[in-house]
Amino acid sequence: MNILLLGSGGRESALAWKMSQSPLTDNLYIAPGNGGTDAYGVNVAMSPTDFEAIDKFVADNAIDMIVVGNEDPLVAGIYDYFESKPVLVVGPSKAGAALEGSKDFAKDFMTRHGIPTARYRSFTAQTIEEGYRFLETLTPPYVLKADGLAAGKGVLIIDSLEEAKKSLREMLDGMFGGASATVVIEEFLSGIECSVFVLTDGNGGYRVLPVAKDYKRIGEGDTGLNTGGMGAVSPVPFADEAFMKKVTERIIEPTIKGLIADRITYRGFIFLGLINVGGEPMVIEYNVRMGDPETEAVMLRVDSDLVELMKAAAEGSLGDLPLHHDPRTAVTVMMVSGGYPGSYSKGKTITGLDGVKDTILFHAGTRRIDDGTLVTSGGRVIAASSYGKSIAEALENSFKAVSAVDFDGKYFRRDIGRDLMALENA
Ligand code: AMP
Ligand code: GLY
Repeated sequence: MNILLLGSGGRESALAWKMSQSPLTDNLYIAPGNGGTDAYGVNVAMSPTDFEAIDKFVADNAIDMIVVGNEDPLVAGIYDYFESKPVLVVGPSKAGAALEGSKDFAKDFMTRHGIPTARYRSFTAQTIEEGYRFLETLTPPYVLKADGLAAGKGVLIIDSLEEAKKSLREMLDGMFGGASATVVIEEFLSGIECSVFVLTDGNGGYRVLPVAKDYKRIGEGDTGLNTGGMGAVSPVPFADEAFMKKVTERIIEPTIKGLIADRITYRGFIFLGLINVGGEPMVIEYNVRMGDPETEAVMLRVDSDLVELMKAAAEGSLGDLPLHHDPRTAVTVMMVSGGYPGSYSKGKTITGLDGVKDTILFHAGTRRIDDGTLVTSGGRVIAASSYGKSIAEALENSFKAVSAVDFDGKYFRRDIGRDLMALENA
């Protein structure tokens, strides 16, 4: 098959790495890709949301399948754009992508289908007074979410009622532009989070991928600002058989059946952002794509042909294709530019990659300049993913790679997976 993968992050590097191993893959193109994805295929300078350019590329290069890495093209309706054309698209229709594109829609979907999630209400500028009253009924901290896509920054968690009211006003006044014209306010849930990924064929068939946990804050001990993700671990010790049985019965199956009942076409990945509240799984959020950096750990543990699975899902029938999980542990440590997630400089020369042997380096914010030198081009630069018999061993292996690779201002967290180590040995 000829495959076009859309995106440019570490997630797309991991997907490209895995897809390039499939005997079904003839030509793999990555648009736009990054300084590392050309090891697995051909980078194409094309925006993932330029559907006309993609259409032409698909026709010119006899593309059989488009794999959408990031949410923007999905929310913009790439599935619907290509629905009547002779190319498969792995991902939901625009209606399905609203599970990520609109938190209000997602909450309403969960409520209608009896899927456990935090109690909530949605407000607009017209109903701000009711919003204040609703906040008064909740106990702190207060969770305020911009309804629309806000580049991962649209969730505020606030301790004081007065601050929460002020933030509600500011959000409705355009703090996140149009994305916060509607604000979801919900009950705060306390527990450990994990990310569950499901590949569905839209006809009731689905497979669950290895579960992962990501580390969002910039600082060790989960402190400081939120980032795109500083590392990931798979498997997650508390996501054991008993927990996953609850996830399957209460969340995955009602989600799959709910999409069918609502006549929403969805042939792709569903990302369930879950929280374990005293042993009971609840949904924090849906995303309509794989997670980043979770994918950089999860792909190491997919022990089946991902291309075959994605093709079958996109065709509407997973049939009895297996999705085996590698029993080893995978840990991903993200190297980022100094200053990230605030301002940081780009164009720093990256060295030491050749010395890395047993760890897979998934490029994110990297690019090759004209003389072939690899330089930084983003906040998250390279993810180091390693196997191990335990979290500690996999982490140690990733650290070896992280010390070999260098660029000016390199920063990473040393505590990826530490909170899970005690549970792992329990
Ligand atoms: P994101 O939507 O990925 O930007 O992430 C928002 C983060 O806010 C989640 O990963 C949680 O850590 C946190 N969060 C969101 N909703 C809640 C909630 N109802 N209770 C507690 N924490 C939450
Ligand atoms: N790692 C969280 C996300 O991809 O949204």
